[in-house]
Amino acid sequence: MAFLLSWASVLFGCLYASVAGASNLSALYPPLWDESPGQFSDYRVENGQYVIDPWVYTERMGIYKILLNQTARYFERFAPENEQNALWGLPLQFGWQYETGRLADPTHTTNCGYTENHLCISVDSWWASINYFLNVLPFLSAVDSDVMGISSDQVALLPPPKDQTPFCLSVSACRLLYPITMNKWNYFYQQLKLPSTDFNELLEYLWEAHTSTLNDVLGIFEPRLNYYLKPEEDFERSWAVAVDYIAALRFPTTLIKTHDFQKGLPPRMLVTGDVAPFISDFTKFQNTVLFSLNSLRELHESTGGLSLILWKNLMKTEFARNVVLEFLEIINKVFT
Ligand SMILES: *[C@@H]1O[C@H](CO)[C@@H](O)[C@H](O)[C@H]1NC(C)=O
Ligand SMILES: *[C@@H]1O[C@H](CO)[C@@H](O)[C@H](O)[C@H]1NC(C)=O
Repeated sequence: MAFLLSWASVLFGCLYASVAGASNLSALYPPLWDESPGQFSDYRVENGQYVIDPWVYTERMGIYKILLNQTARYFERFAPENEQNALWGLPLQFGWQYETGRLADPTHTTNCGYTENHLCISVDSWWASINYFLNVLPFLSAVDSDVMGISSDQVALLPPPKDQTPFCLSVSACRLLYPITMNKWNYFYQQLKLPSTDFNELLEYLWEAHTSTLNDVLGIFEPRLNYYLKPEEDFERSWAVAVDYIAALRFPTTLIKTHDFQKGLPPRMLVTGDVAPFISDFTKFQNTVLFSLNSLRELHESTGGLSLILWKNLMKTEFARNVVLEFLEIINKVFT
């Protein structure tokens, strides 16, 4: 029960709350969306290739923007204005990272990501490194799946300034390093193209590809956690655990729901002395979510991961997921 309550408080604000007067969806887009490339021809062209630097915020965001644009036709049947595009979760999460200073150089040895150089994405940032794979792998897989309208040799991704080995730059290199994950992203796009696939199935395949991506790279970037103050490091570890639980619930990562969910995430980097649920400049919702995420990780670790196995088993049927969703709705009403 404590477990469900913990979950409920993480998710209560997002599943049922809806944006008041969400008539203007563009208000929910991530930062600098309008300034980011919306088509390949907005990028620099060299030797017949579009050159994209994923270590510049707007250029990485442009990859998402084009991906969202190119997949819009497959999500049309669920809602107008691309609102139900399940890929919204990725750019919104990336935008939250930017807005909260999480893409900046955590070692403070460069000005990358700070005021005068705020579009710079630091390769030393744990968040930015992990996000690379939630950006480039779904993108290259979409290219490979003929979703993007270009072939893989028409695009050139630039490497980061250092630590280049894990950051694959092409379909073939990414397939070589992350074959299982690339197959999962390809499978998602294959299913996306079939008009018979329902939304729930798409969420399942999307979350499988997402968690497989994290499984591939979380270990590689663990040393980067040392660059952070303890409360932020703890939150990063908790976040990495929580994603598996959110995935099992098949959280619908549409524009409005992701936006609502993110209101509960820390609005700045955590610093020494930040103890949820008592952080004075956080909302009650943000304090509750942070406290719950940390509690969830404690539960997860103290049971040696058994809690996740149980949770996954519970969440296997649509019936069970609906029970949890209804339970969350009740909790939501109690809290608000
Ligand atoms: C929607 O919001 C955006 C930015 O907040 C604004 O530029 C635009 O004019 C608005 N559109 C409508 C139809 O209200
Ligand atoms: C996709 O991009 C094109 C060109 O920028 C634009 O005209 C179109 O409205 C976009 N479609 C969606 C669904 O965003």
